[in-house]
Amino acid sequence: MKIAIDGPAGAGKSTVAKKVADQLGYLYVDTGAMYRALTWKALQANVDISSGEALLRLLNQCNLELKVESGTLKVMLNNQDITAEIRTRDVTNLVSEVASHQQVREAMVQLQKEMAAKGNVVMDGRDIGTHVIPDAEVKIYLTASIEERARRRYEELLTKGHKASLREIKQEIRDRDRKDKNRETAPLKKAADAVTVDTTGLSIDEVVNRILKIVYQNS
Ligand code: C5P
Repeated sequence: MKIAIDGPAGAGKSTVAKKVADQLGYLYVDTGAMYRALTWKALQANVDISSGEALLRLLNQCNLELKVESGTLKVMLNNQDITAEIRTRDVTNLVSEVASHQQVREAMVQLQKEMAAKGNVVMDGRDIGTHVIPDAEVKIYLTASIEERARRRYEELLTKGHKASLREIKQEIRDRDRKDKNRETAPLKKAADAVTVDTTGLSIDEVVNRILKIVYQNS
C-alpha cells in the first residue's frame, strides 16, 4: 500500500508520517529532506539557487540517501551525515526557492517514484498525492492553524537551544506556504481524493491513530 501525506509547513507531517510507517512496518520517505539536502549542498558549494540548471547539475553529483535508524531519519549526502544541517533556519528559508525549479522537481520526483515502487511506503511532502504517487491508496492532507504550527516550530527551536521570535517564525511559515502554493510546477494543493486531517489541538499519537484508522478503512 502507498500512503501520501501532504500539507503546509509545520503541520507535523514528518513526525506523524514516520510513526505511521513504524507502526505499519513500511518504508518512510521524507521528500522535504531531499529538497533540504540539495539546498544545503548549494549553500556549501556556492551554487546560484536561482538557476534550475545549476541546481540540477549539482544534484547529479550528489549521492543522496535517506535511512531510518532506531526510529530516527538520517540524511546522508555523499556519505556525510547532514541530518542536523538540513534543519537550520538558513536552509529552511531558502528551500522553497530551490524546490520551485522544474528541473529540480523532475529529477526529485523521478527518485521518489523509484523509492515508492519498492513496495509499502509512507511518503510525505507537498506534491505526493498529486504528482509523485497519484495512485496512492491513502492520501492525507495534514494541516493545522498557522498559530499552532508557528508555536510548535518555536518550541522545537527553544528545545534545541536556539533563540527565536514567535512572530518571525509565523511570518517565515506564511512565506514558505505562499511560495509552495503559488509556484508553477506542482504547487502544494490538496489532492481531490485526499482526506483532510486538522491537527490543531491534537497530540501526535491522536493524529497517528486517526491516520491509521483511515489506512485500515482503506485496506
Ligand atoms: O517538509 P519540509 O518542510 O521539510 O519541506 C521543505 C520544503 O521542501 C518545502 O517548503 C517545499 O518548498 C519543498 N518540498 C516540495 N515538495 C515536496 C516536499 C518538500 O516542494 N514533496
